[in-house]
Amino acid sequence: MGDYIISVEGLVKRFKDVVAVDNISFKVRRGEIYGLLGPNGAGKTTTINILITLLKPTSGKAFIDGIDVVEEPDKVRKKIGVVFQDPTLDNFLTAYENLYIHGRIYGLSGRELDERIKEALEFVELRQYANKVVRYFSGGMRRRLEIARALLHEPEILFLDEPTIGLDPQSRNKVWEYVGSVRREKGVTIFMTTHYMDEAEFLCDRIAVMDHGKIIAEGSPEELKSMVGSDIIIMKFNDSQRAVCLEDSLNGVIRSCRPISGNRIELVVTDAVKVLPKIFEVFERRGAVIDEVSYRRPTLNEVFLYLTGRELRDSLEESPRPTRRW
Ligand SMILES: Nc1ncnc2c1ncn2[C@@H]1O[C@H](COP(=O)(O)OP(=O)(O)O)[C@@H](O)[C@H]1O
Ligand SMILES: [Mg+2]
Repeated sequence: MGDYIISVEGLVKRFKDVVAVDNISFKVRRGEIYGLLGPNGAGKTTTINILITLLKPTSGKAFIDGIDVVEEPDKVRKKIGVVFQDPTLDNFLTAYENLYIHGRIYGLSGRELDERIKEALEFVELRQYANKVVRYFSGGMRRRLEIARALLHEPEILFLDEPTIGLDPQSRNKVWEYVGSVRREKGVTIFMTTHYMDEAEFLCDRIAVMDHGKIIAEGSPEELKSMVGSDIIIMKFNDSQRAVCLEDSLNGVIRSCRPISGNRIELVVTDAVKVLPKIFEVFERRGAVIDEVSYRRPTLNEVFLYLTGRELRDSLEESPRPTRRW
């Protein structure tokens, strides 16, 4: 069905007076990793739930491989695998049994099912834990098992809602590794949500930045960064008295400046290479001794700040909702 495997047009979802998804449109190419990046409450899970046929949109259209998610949900479900935001494993069954039940639901049985379970467990390096009860698994192992389960019926698209939420750094890296190889080795399209900027940047070919139910920007990580149109220069001085911004002298050279910890200042400029000589000159004239200078491209956090005036980082502090919605 053409180059786009997911197509969303003017999608809206209202819960009474809350507009969770506010008229969004986007298209996902076959074989890409596409991410919805946004803070808690942005509407990411609601969007995914519509795409995977668990929620009906208030208005608008969504197609999976050309199939309308409202008109033909059963057909859509055959094409997709899902890892939900909240864990959905049965803790009292073994890893093997969890996959077995899932396989039976999808009409698999006998030797074929057995082989697929073993292969899926192998893929996420859990084969040796096949007959262990899930209750004793770490958070990372559970996540890996859920990925294995989502792949069991060989879906064309894998949906991952916050795949590494609450995981330690090592487990996150493992999950990232598997997500990468699902696409590479199995050619599966991946649609994911995250509120982690590093995760979106590391995994996604394209990102839709979502806030208050709307998509406020879309593009590759590099494209999003170039929207900010700026570099960040960090200068460290030998003396805290000197770590001041000299905004008057740098007027027209820099966009903004703020002191940060450790005798340092952070300058936002359009093109670091062009303006660094002028900046050195201004500070040297004032007798400041510069210990260290570095500059870098903006991060996705700065993209979010540029787009919304808020830091995406701030939203990470919110505690997760206490109640499960499943
Ligand atoms: N079943 C529901 N009933 C009422 N409000 C909901 C429901 N599900 C989500 N919401 C609200 O919709 C908004 C978006 O939520 P959600 O899609 O879970 O965001 P995200 O996944 O980006 O954190 C939030 O304000 C949330 O409180
Ligand atoms: Mg969510």
